[in-house]
Amino acid sequence: MKKNIGSKLALYPMPITVIGAMNGGEPTWTLAGHLGIIGHDRVMVSLAAPHFINGKIKETKKLSINLVDEKFLPQADYVGSVSGSKTDKSKVFAWEMGDAGAPLITDSPLTLECSVLDIYETHNFESFICSIDSTYVAEEHLDENGKINYNTLKPVLFEFPTYHYLRTGDVICKCLSLKGKQPKEEMEKCDESQLPCL
Ligand SMILES: Cc1cc2nc3c(=O)[nH]c(=O)nc-3n(C[C@H](O)[C@H](O)[C@H](O)COP(=O)(O)O)c2cc1C
Repeated sequence: MKKNIGSKLALYPMPITVIGAMNGGEPTWTLAGHLGIIGHDRVMVSLAAPHFINGKIKETKKLSINLVDEKFLPQADYVGSVSGSKTDKSKVFAWEMGDAGAPLITDSPLTLECSVLDIYETHNFESFICSIDSTYVAEEHLDENGKINYNTLKPVLFEFPTYHYLRTGDVICKCLSLKGKQPKEEMEKCDESQLPCL
């Protein structure tokens, strides 16, 4: 029996990301976990309205979404602890300029470079609705068909309720390979080792 604990943000874990935008000739960076996918051609980045980076995103209409690797988690955590309004964060990461004009973190295993199409406003938050201009992937995470290999790409995850970072786990199996049409009683008897993908 499940207990109803009320209206909670509980859709976790999800990837933690560093959002980048240009501030004049230098980048500024902000940590964000509240992102989403809309349809098959839009992504959403939800940022508190007072954040320094929001003004820069609105000026340039460009942002980058950088997945976080454990090796630069301390720096990623840092850009989530201080505001660009008081502290210059431009030197925290080695970076390069993307084709569309957003800054890309060199050490990030995967970066989306995005154009802002719309802003969805809710109380104290601005959610940036973006199209994806480019996807930059470290070559070691591409398979022989040029597809992203999530067996090797292990972005750091996070969860908001207790504010922890987590490691990405293993691939379980290919979607739609589970032949899971058994009635409930059969599922309860199910021996995991018999799953077709394991
Ligand atoms: C783990 C973690 C996740 C965060 N996720 C978000 C988020 O999704 N949206 C947001 O507005 N702020 C988020 N923050 C807070 C901002 O990163 C933080 O307030 C930052 O200092 C804002 O920087 P800025 O003022 O330079 O833009 C997060 C912070 C942490 C530590």
